[in-house]
Amino acid sequence: MFERIEETAKFISEKLEGRTPKLGIILGSGLGVFADQAQDKIEIPYNEIPNFHPTTVVGHKGRLVVGKIEGIEVCIMQGRFHTYEGHSLEDVVLPVRVLAQIGIENLILTNAAGGINPQYVPGDLVCITDHLNLTGRNPLVGPNDDRIGPRFPDMTEAYHPGLNEKLALSAQELGFELKTGIYAGLLGPTYETPAEIKMLSVLGADMVGMSTVPESIAANHAGLKVCGISCITNLAAGISKEKLNHDEVKEVANLSMERFTNLLSLAVKNIG
Ligand code: HPA
Repeated sequence: MFERIEETAKFISEKLEGRTPKLGIILGSGLGVFADQAQDKIEIPYNEIPNFHPTTVVGHKGRLVVGKIEGIEVCIMQGRFHTYEGHSLEDVVLPVRVLAQIGIENLILTNAAGGINPQYVPGDLVCITDHLNLTGRNPLVGPNDDRIGPRFPDMTEAYHPGLNEKLALSAQELGFELKTGIYAGLLGPTYETPAEIKMLSVLGADMVGMSTVPESIAANHAGLKVCGISCITNLAAGISKEKLNHDEVKEVANLSMERFTNLLSLAVKNIG
């Protein structure tokens, strides 16, 4: 595993022409447009990167973009890998480990999610304060490699309070209140049944999605500071009478794009 991380990190580092981004961003479904904002971009398609896969999900571009946002060097993953695509968890979290290896210290995870909390409306942006790992799996299962991280990583502050604060302040500066919530991560690819959403609500989940949790675990394992933003693209199954579909998810993500972009840009500036 470590050899694959090193190989991939070496390939990427060589493409960076001496640039040293400290902040990584992973863009979720329909949110990839954010990367177009970056200046002085170096773009590397995933299919050129050793050990990366092309993304199979519509709305995920499949490019690593290094560039400047608000004058700050960032490394953006425009599209991610999901377990439901059939990738091993090791492959799903490889990019996070590679980001750590090339020197990233802070990581912003973003996703599209279904709203469970009755206070949420589609289009809301929510700061992830904690997660429920309901995927039935954990990317750290198997022999631990101490070069990557410890055997039993602490997850008390999996979403870093200091970074969460910076997200909240960024939203405040932009004149809106960033909601907060607990993200339930499921395997997918089916959307949930209304009964499952009722269960998730009882368990304390505010929103639900099919990504982020494995990445967050791997990032914490690797010692990165993590924060996350969910874009509520729909009310979760059974909360509204509407049926769910991926086109709607992409469409609402697109409608929220301006606010999402403004928030993320300012967060980059404030996190630095
Ligand atoms: N459920 C799971 N994943 C999602 C949803 C949802 O309702 N919306 C966007 N991603």
